Amino acid sequence: MFNKVDLGVESTGSWSDFEKKIFRLLTLFVVSTNAFRRDIFQIDTQAHSLARSGDDMRPLLDRLQVLGEVLDYHAKGEEAAVFPAVDKLTPFVSQAYFIDHRELDNMVNGLETIRKAPDPLTTARATAVLQSHLRIHLDKEDVHLYPILRERTTNERQASIAKIMSSKIPPEKFPTFTQWLFPLLELNDQITVTKGWMALMPPPVFAMAKQLIKKSAAENWAKLTQQIPELTN
Ligand SMILES: [Fe+2]
Repeated sequence: MFNKVDLGVESTGSWSDFEKKIFRLLTLFVVSTNAFRRDIFQIDTQAHSLARSGDDMRPLLDRLQVLGEVLDYHAKGEEAAVFPAVDKLTPFVSQAYFIDHRELDNMVNGLETIRKAPDPLTTARATAVLQSHLRIHLDKEDVHLYPILRERTTNERQASIAKIMSSKIPPEKFPTFTQWLFPLLELNDQITVTKGWMALMPPPVFAMAKQLIKKSAAENWAKLTQQIPELTN
């Protein structure tokens, strides 16, 4: 099983306390790493199973394509906002994470090549390596990169970093991103993301996002509306 990150943010607390914490801890982005962890764990488990069974690989390859897209947003967001901010505080630190990202690019490109000529064993080998690399990369960012920002930057600076990172998801891809993210999160993380988006997005934009959340959260939607009554407005 994958290890999820729990920052100890109580998403059911008062609204003002929560708002302060999501900016203070860059929580939205750390929460999304739980989705990456769950996704690649499930993908790798399924790839291993398909290598044994020889069943149809197309749904798995489609899922890998979406993961590749979202990993690209992760890399672009961090390289535009997080890495420069960290390097200002502690020079040279981000270069190691930049190298990790290029290796992730190579892996995703390799999976695209596999997609053109699917082979179960080659896919399983590729997903195993991707899972290992991605898990270690995210763990290092969680224990090293993000604490530097959390401890040594202001709330305002963290909010501006969050906005730059969010801008790296193309607007036309936001539905794909939401449909990827929500099913991979536990309820508490879904509440965190929903409240965060409510705080960050202009009301008309959140009105559209709310419909995507409703569709993507599926059976958890009722629980979300219980925890966040504003969703029913
Ligand atoms: Fe990263």
